[in-house]
Amino acid sequence: MACKKITTLVAAVLMLCVAALAEAPVFTADKHKAAGFKCEDCHGTAPKDSIDQTACLKCHESMKAVAKRTADMDPNPHDNHMSDQASCLDCHHGHRANEVMCSQCHQDKKFERNTKK
Ligand code: HEC
Ligand code: HEC
Ligand code: HEC
Ligand code: HEC
Repeated sequence: MACKKITTLVAAVLMLCVAALAEAPVFTADKHKAAGFKCEDCHGTAPKDSIDQTACLKCHESMKAVAKRTADMDPNPHDNHMSDQASCLDCHHGHRANEVMCSQCHQDKKFERNTKK
């Protein structure tokens, strides 16, 4: 019956979507894993839960260096009045969704790419 075929097709498409969702690297650590990095690249030999931004700066250099990469954003997440005190981990969580720590004080602070140029 056509109706049953459509149901089967819809189910198949849904399953594909679920598979794609499960595989797409979402969080910072997964993205690095997908790029070929190992747990040790961030965690070193220290206990897994004791990590700070020095782990990131090993490869990403400095807040100033990443600020250049997001110079097209307004405000620049890496160049603002918090950048001297902020840690990478305030916003980029290893195994959780990123966070805009600015919202602690500013409601709805969003970082937008400037697409106008
Ligand atoms: C891109 C760097 C990065 C990679 C790669 C990475 N982690 Fe993490 N991991 C973090 C960060 C950042 C935290 C959070 C530290 C914090 O907020 O105190 C963390 C925390 C953890 C924690 C503590 C619990 C938690 O979820 O906060 C465990 C356990 C852990 N990682 C295991 C692993 C394992 C196993 C791998 C390899 C599959 C891995 N990590 C790869 C960055 C990384
Ligand atoms: C061993 C080297 C290495 C370490 C350690 C590392 N990164 Fe990366 N990271 C890379 C490379 C390589 C890329 C992909 C190319 C690029 O964007 O620079 C990347 C990409 C990223 C991206 C952009 C990926 C995306 O699409 O979202 C973010 C954000 C990032 N890293 C944050 C972090 C944070 C936060 C830490 C520390 C917890 C960290 N990285 C530790 C090498 C590293
Ligand atoms: C105030 C929040 C915040 C802090 C603190 C922060 N980031 Fe980001 N970062 C962002 C946002 C927002 C983006 C752009 C959206 C995205 O790619 O997730 C970004 C993007 C990036 C990218 C990708 C840049 C590109 O080419 O698009 C890298 C790499 C990165 N951050 C690394 C770091 C590192 C390393 C630190 C610490 C030195 C850091 N970030 C601190 C919020 C932050
Ligand atoms: C501890 C509280 C606090 C945090 C966290 C914070 N701000 Fe602010 N920010 C302020 C205060 C106070 C002012 C000055 C009063 C005002 O203009 O709202 C200000 C002003 C600003 C301004 C100029 C005024 C405006 O709204 O355009 C910008 C831009 C800004 N902050 C961006 C950020 C960004 C980006 C972050 C996250 C990286 C951040 N702030 C995190 C407290 C904070």
